[in-house]
Amino acid sequence: MFMKSPFVVGGLLLALASTATVHAADPLRLKIDATTPGAQIDRNIFGQFAEHLGHGVYEGIWVGPDSKIPNTRGIRNDVVAALRALKVPNVRWPGGCFADEYHWRKGIGPSSQRAVTLNPNWGGVTEPNTFGTHEFMDFIGQIGSRAYLSVNLGSGTTAEAADWLEYLTAAQPTTLAKERGANGHPEPYSIPYLGIGNESWDCGGNMSTDYYLSQLKIYTRFVRNYNPAQQGDKQMLKIAVGPNEGNVEWTEAIMKAYQKKQWSWDMQGLSLHAYTVVKWPPAMPSVGFGIPDYDRVLKSTLEMESLVTKHSAIMDKYDPKKQVALVVDEWGAWYAALPGSTPGFLVQQNSMRDAILASLNLNIFARHADRVRMANIAQMINVLQAMILTDKEKMVLTPSYHAFRMYTPFQDAKSVPVQFDAGSYGSGDVKLPRLDAIAARDASGKLWIEFTNLDPENPLQVEADLSGIAAKSATGETLTAPKVDSVNSFEAPNAVAPKPAVVKLQGNKLTLTLTPKSLTVVAVQE
Ligand code: AHR
Repeated sequence: MFMKSPFVVGGLLLALASTATVHAADPLRLKIDATTPGAQIDRNIFGQFAEHLGHGVYEGIWVGPDSKIPNTRGIRNDVVAALRALKVPNVRWPGGCFADEYHWRKGIGPSSQRAVTLNPNWGGVTEPNTFGTHEFMDFIGQIGSRAYLSVNLGSGTTAEAADWLEYLTAAQPTTLAKERGANGHPEPYSIPYLGIGNESWDCGGNMSTDYYLSQLKIYTRFVRNYNPAQQGDKQMLKIAVGPNEGNVEWTEAIMKAYQKKQWSWDMQGLSLHAYTVVKWPPAMPSVGFGIPDYDRVLKSTLEMESLVTKHSAIMDKYDPKKQVALVVDEWGAWYAALPGSTPGFLVQQNSMRDAILASLNLNIFARHADRVRMANIAQMINVLQAMILTDKEKMVLTPSYHAFRMYTPFQDAKSVPVQFDAGSYGSGDVKLPRLDAIAARDASGKLWIEFTNLDPENPLQVEADLSGIAAKSATGETLTAPKVDSVNSFEAPNAVAPKPAVVKLQGNKLTLTLTPKSLTVVAVQE
């Protein structure tokens, strides 16, 4: 929450001090022009991803109604409360690679009668199917989010996927709709986003572009949403499998086909998967690292900018009206699994570095708001760059969680241009910008500015000239930590937590000192 300033003196506003005031010699100047706000930053870029993988779903979300851990219909209350504060716009489920082996029928009906299957992708563990369609939709409802389902294109059939959507969305008394009613939900569900397969070029069936396109055309034709409230301009958006990282040939092939498409098929999104790994297989530690590894990881994450630019340029060629969204539905840091963790569960810690990494990616998406209209960080709980870690009844919010919470005002706000010369820091071949920043105006007219000081050692004084707004007051909050690898643990859950920032506003000039390795969100009010 943004703190109300205790001091307001003749237009000069001082918010609560939180950090040591160290002044760099030369302030870095920014120009922020709120006169003509640009593209809307779609709230969906703050989406999450929850795969049946390790303890992402089981233990992380689902503990079952008989658990001693406080829950509502089997879904843990602490996790729900934490996620509600993030205003999670959509959750992608059930995978990932898992989606292409998921058979929805095994996850409906009385829990005790559900088939126990296997999860060969992720540790080969048993899959109890106790968290299925109804439990996921209940979870989405509890956290106030929306469903982004991935249908099984790899080992399933069009009929299976079509039946799932009829089961979920039909309002008429079809046999499947009645079965849904008998299972507790007579009203049709709302399914606003549908992924047609996952990584079909790899774990989803190692398909060629031609083969995938033939499947895409069939699935988008026959897998229908029947919910009367989701027709016309409220239609469910179908998201095609897009490229892995820099695979421009894939983007080219799908978009070329899209340009020539017949009435009988359509797509509204193209996915992009791009993890921050530095080098496959993931070997960077998520704990106990120093500044060189911090710099290397941030350098690697900034490649998202060129990936988004490259794929957007191809999309512009075939879809100049930008009807198809670029959906970065798997992104985030992928490090070496924590020593001692179960192989295949993708367990890693989450440090101050990850909060910075999240802010840099969110800023890239926001700057490409006209094309990037959805994104899903991998993954929500206990897996990869998680928002939340759990251990039995304990829960801890990660630095990435705090970054996402601080960005909530940017959801659906309109981008405002920010100009600055970031300069650079670093040594050898690892040079990084000192600063990143975005700005946006929300529906109430408030101007929001995010500043990231990447430099792990030096504070950065910034001075922003605001135009297009008669600024009256400003408040801010900042997230930083003693070390680049500072983490929140079950023993010390608040080691990395946001604090009020010192913000000065004089006329339309905003000044603040950004602590090393920090992100700061400032609200400016007229
Ligand atoms: O997020 C983990 C895995 O990474 C997903 O299942 C898959 O789509 C990707 O390769």
